[in-house]
Amino acid sequence: MVTNFLKNTLKRFGYELNHITQVKVEMPGYVLYNFLNQDGSFDYERYRGLQEEGNKRKISLVWVIEENIEFLSGYIKKLVPEARFGLCHGTRRGKEQEWFKKYLSCDVIGTEISNTAQEFPDTIQWDFHEAKPEWIGAVDFIYSNSFDHSYDPEKCLNTWMSCLKPGGVCIVEHSSLHAPKGTSALDPFGADLFLMPYLIVSWSQGKYGVKEILQAPKKAASLEQLHFIVIQKFP
Ligand SMILES: C[S@@+](CC[C@H](N)C(=O)[O-])C[C@H]1O[C@@H](n2cnc3c(N)ncnc32)[C@H](O)[C@@H]1O
Repeated sequence: MVTNFLKNTLKRFGYELNHITQVKVEMPGYVLYNFLNQDGSFDYERYRGLQEEGNKRKISLVWVIEENIEFLSGYIKKLVPEARFGLCHGTRRGKEQEWFKKYLSCDVIGTEISNTAQEFPDTIQWDFHEAKPEWIGAVDFIYSNSFDHSYDPEKCLNTWMSCLKPGGVCIVEHSSLHAPKGTSALDPFGADLFLMPYLIVSWSQGKYGVKEILQAPKKAASLEQLHFIVIQKFP
């Protein structure tokens, strides 16, 4: 409580109070928080601890909207008519895998870093920056609205793309809260929508690119925009 009071007071005067090992990298349209040990190495335990704490604090909330998953299922059916296996990343209560299963009638697994994963069907406790060996080149579609929780978006997207079958599709949800103004230690990555295709192309090193950007049929009233960035591997 005292920390929050201090943070808010400092914020009013244009300052920000951060944990000593939290460094914010900022460029126009882009923010990434780093979690560093005193020796400059990555403090994974701090990242993981913050995510687990945030997950438990917000465990009753569902961000994903069923109507949007129904819309994306129709889209996936056209691009990947024989879709058999999908992955959803950062799924908390697991509603996205439930709804993709409902609309696509195929296997869908969700990853969740928190140990609350065990409470929800088709959800495994897993950090989405890593791929299980059996996922490599074996996934028809990937969906995530949690890309802003990545500590290293380049590593993260390269991991996700390595899992896709040829012709498979990765759909990254992007809202006004996934932009720099929505970042925090809990949501360490943020980039403006217009910058995302540039970042994706530079991370891909010619292996994949943005196919299109779709407007979501439905969004929360509090959001300025909600889009789906569709990413595909080049043949
Ligand atoms: C904004 S919430 C979205 C939850 C869910 N997709 C929804 O629509 O309600 C982000 C979720 O991603 C999880 N998460 C954060 N970092 C993760 C990581 N590296 N690997 C897997 N899950 C992660 C968090 O614990 C949290 O439950």
